[in-house]
Amino acid sequence: MEESLSVEKTVRSEDCALTLKSGDLEVLSTPTVLAWMEEVSANLAKKFLASDESTVGVHVELDHVAPAFVGDKVRVKSILKERGTKKFIFFVTAESAGKLLAKANHVRVIVNRRQFVK
Ligand SMILES: CC(C)(COP(=O)(O)OP(=O)(O)OC[C@H]1O[C@@H](n2cnc3c(N)ncnc32)[C@H](O)[C@@H]1OP(=O)(O)O)[C@@H](O)C(=O)NCCC(=O)NCCS
Repeated sequence: MEESLSVEKTVRSEDCALTLKSGDLEVLSTPTVLAWMEEVSANLAKKFLASDESTVGVHVELDHVAPAFVGDKVRVKSILKERGTKKFIFFVTAESAGKLLAKANHVRVIVNRRQFVK
């Protein structure tokens, strides 16, 4: 069975393009959607890591297909599609009220926590 993990977020003003300057409208920003997708994927990867390991994002291919607004609830779901010795490949979706907002293919690489930040 495929491993997956979901999280529910509520869009706040600080999540919007106007605040993040990735646009000038009060709509859920693409960088926020990506951050949520990385958060849920990194948490899913943690299940398979040793305590001295972490993952870092190395690739994302994201389609942002519909807007969301302040107060909207957004469900972000990551599905682990492939697990290698050094990397994880995820397919991630963001939906609101059953409508697809965004989808992405995402790759994370396993790193040693201390060596990576030294
Ligand atoms: C993570 C990092 C150290 C990987 O470099 P590396 O050790 O040379 O990685 P490798 O070349 O051995 O790649 C490991 C695996 O990931 C895959 N991979 C690496 N970069 C990739 C990319 N951009 N897209 C897709 N796959 C990638 C490789 O194909 C390899 O897969 P394999 O095991 O099936 O052969 C380097 O890319 C990096 O530092 N990136 C910055 C990450 C970062 O700071 N992210 C923000 C913080 S979350």
